[in-house]
Amino acid sequence: MEQTVLKGQDTADFGYRKVPRDEKVQWVLRHFNTIAGYYDIMNTVLSFGIHYLWKRTAIRMMALKPGDRVLDVCGGTGDLSVMALKAMREKGEVVLFDINREMMLAGRRKGSNRKYRQQIDYLQGNAEAIPLPDNSFDAAMVGFGIRNVTDMEQGFSEMHRVLKPGGTLMCLEFSIPTSPVFRWLYDFYSFTIMPWAGQVLVGSRQAYTYLPESIRLFPMPDELSAILEGIGFEKMTYRRLTNGIAVAHVGKKK
Ligand SMILES: C[S@@+](CC[C@H](N)C(=O)[O-])C[C@H]1O[C@@H](n2cnc3c(N)ncnc32)[C@H](O)[C@@H]1O
Repeated sequence: MEQTVLKGQDTADFGYRKVPRDEKVQWVLRHFNTIAGYYDIMNTVLSFGIHYLWKRTAIRMMALKPGDRVLDVCGGTGDLSVMALKAMREKGEVVLFDINREMMLAGRRKGSNRKYRQQIDYLQGNAEAIPLPDNSFDAAMVGFGIRNVTDMEQGFSEMHRVLKPGGTLMCLEFSIPTSPVFRWLYDFYSFTIMPWAGQVLVGSRQAYTYLPESIRLFPMPDELSAILEGIGFEKMTYRRLTNGIAVAHVGKKK
């Protein structure tokens, strides 16, 4: 395990590496700049395409209605935004919010679902300070992104602030399988095969070492529900997907 010890400094985790807290955002930016052009294909290769099923399930759990206004925080290349528009039968509005311009551009350039991609509003910024008004969205979602935000609770608080009372929160994030055998296989796959694939396909072993490390540091599902309730969400439920490799949480703003 690579670990840089920074004595006497306020630190944050970047995978298993400790970095100065106020620099984590730059590490995350560099990480996604490295992989932006490969992000979608690597997701599909490394998850055998299953990430689309997880995203579809998570969108269904949100029960969006035509005419809803949806915020896609850490929206990246826009899969969830496109699926949200489809779920609303193109009659809603989606704002995709992400810190990384390269990721948003990679999504906009994609040939698939062009009609939907043109309907998305893109906004660049940090999830810890979302420059949008209070009580203005029917739903706010974050897919595989909140793990990267330096102050995760601040990110969720911002999602809470921009939601209308009764609005829906959805968080889709990686977790750890429940079955010990599956967990062993998953550990082997994610700490051995994934970094190797990162080196071979993207030219960066580090980019795909960060991913499994950051997943292991993320709160377990019940813990995450409690954090979200503490922030002001209610009716929190979650669903484990593929034995818990991913977990979709949904809840409502009180
Ligand atoms: C793993 S990608 C997920 C993209 C997309 N939601 C999906 O499910 O495919 C994570 C995204 O979070 C964005 N991100 C990381 N830290 C962020 C922050 N502090 N504020 C906003 N976006 C951030 C990254 O730029 C990246 O596009």
